[in-house]
Amino acid sequence: MLEHRIRHIGLQSRVMTADEAQTWIRDGMTLGVSGFTKSGDAKAVLQALANRVEESGERLSIDVYSGASLGDTDGILSAHHLIRRRLPYQSDGLMREAINAGELEYVDQHLSHTAELLRGGSLGEIDLAIIEATAITQDGGIIPTTSVGNSPIFVQRAKHVIVEINMNIPEAFEGLHDIYLPLDRPQRLPIPIRSVRDRIGSMSIPCDPEKIVAIVPSTLSDTPSSIVPADADTLRMAGYILDFLEHEVRYGRLPKQLAPLQSGVGSVSNAVLSGLVNSAFEHLEIYTEVMQDAVFELFDAGKVSFASASSLTLSEHKARRVTNDIARYRDRMILRPQEISNHPEVVRRLGVIAMNTALEADIYGNVNSTHVFGTHMMNGIGGSGDFARNAALTVFVTKSVAKGGRVSSIVPFVTHVDHTEHDVDVLVTERGLADLRGLSPRQRARTIISTLAHPDYRDALLDYFERAQRRGGQTPHLLEEALSWHNRFRETGDMRKTKNLARVM
Ligand code: COA
Repeated sequence: MLEHRIRHIGLQSRVMTADEAQTWIRDGMTLGVSGFTKSGDAKAVLQALANRVEESGERLSIDVYSGASLGDTDGILSAHHLIRRRLPYQSDGLMREAINAGELEYVDQHLSHTAELLRGGSLGEIDLAIIEATAITQDGGIIPTTSVGNSPIFVQRAKHVIVEINMNIPEAFEGLHDIYLPLDRPQRLPIPIRSVRDRIGSMSIPCDPEKIVAIVPSTLSDTPSSIVPADADTLRMAGYILDFLEHEVRYGRLPKQLAPLQSGVGSVSNAVLSGLVNSAFEHLEIYTEVMQDAVFELFDAGKVSFASASSLTLSEHKARRVTNDIARYRDRMILRPQEISNHPEVVRRLGVIAMNTALEADIYGNVNSTHVFGTHMMNGIGGSGDFARNAALTVFVTKSVAKGGRVSSIVPFVTHVDHTEHDVDVLVTERGLADLRGLSPRQRARTIISTLAHPDYRDALLDYFERAQRRGGQTPHLLEEALSWHNRFRETGDMRKTKNLARVM
């Protein structure tokens, strides 16, 4: 019953359709919308806006800020050329094309930074926040659905707010969220999270009811995550990481229950977590931004005692089961704003183990997670930098080759640096695991080449490194050759042809 979900009596008169609510959106506006890695995103009003533009032929251009990627809506907005500026993250094929064609301004941000930039005033004002909700409390508080993301800061800063009440989200979601907004500086206090399970805020997003201009009932589901099933290489990488963690416990560098785990979206991270189901580890804790399917396998196997994140990003099958059964998990999990789930202070205090994916890494351990061949945006840095810089143990994984072997993911020099060699402790490919902690750049290069590179490229990498060493330096390079592998791929479609390049002696 909709009335039951709008507990502020005065707000019940603001119920309207998505078609009516979208008229609040005008050309040039900045919208702050809920949604984090395709979950809990505002859907109905933005899709109604796309219909309006399609029917009227009107030209309209808006800035869209969110928590992270939206589901299908990012593609729909791109197809209708509605976006002028988008931040802080996306992962949609159509939007990617528009970004790389220069049709929209994409600002690729660390996910913990957006709220701070809004607070500081450098991202301008939010004209309208559109937030998907489970319910509205008696005092106007907004109870989110499957993610929290940046919704609290958007609601706080927005001039007006539209709430989409998703009738398919059970009311049992109430109580899952922990909303904490840091104070503006200089009144800022330490964030009082000392353990993964600490609750420090309220169960709903505080909102002045006067700001809520429309309430739209909706039944649209989150776009399901499409985790590519683990293949032999992925399972091998997951195996190396699990062996490494056991090794760290044996040497007393990690406790038996490990440390809170963060894992990025993707099949390797999911396979590592799934692998923990059959491991000897118990009483595990998760402190991450996205809970994928595997976290619930671990809950069901009794391996995880508590999990904290900013969103639930699940496959269709898992989403249906977890959503309808949320009461079973509610006491063992928290959804937080992304500036808290990804906060450097908390990640450092808890000593998180962070596992994320690279597109390519270089022989010194610098990692590119965002730019294909240095120029073309894939998704964005997401939360990987928030965790990589501050975690107690930072792991990056990548297959040693891409594009059917024609591209080496271990290269002399990455074409874009998202994570510097100073942040990367462990690198993993299907060839092995390189523990880089405490190694100098030259030691790192030897370890990375011998342990991680594909045999098709190993000799060429070693040859590059040895010739570079003759020139000296702390981090030896042949600058005129450092990016030649990528150039060769552009010219011939195969990096293996680097052997035939004129060699710098
Ligand atoms: N050079 C050029 N292209 C490469 C490449 C390389 N070294 N390695 C992979 N690619 C291409 C693949 O061929 C594929 O291209 P396609 O889409 O044309 O088929 C594409 O990049 C994606 O590769 P894939 O192996 O499918 O990647 P993935 O699904 O494991 O994702 C990232 C890898 C890096 C794109 C993804 O993890 C990401 O966006 N990371 C940044 C955000 C993040 O880490 N967030 C953390 C918390 S959620």
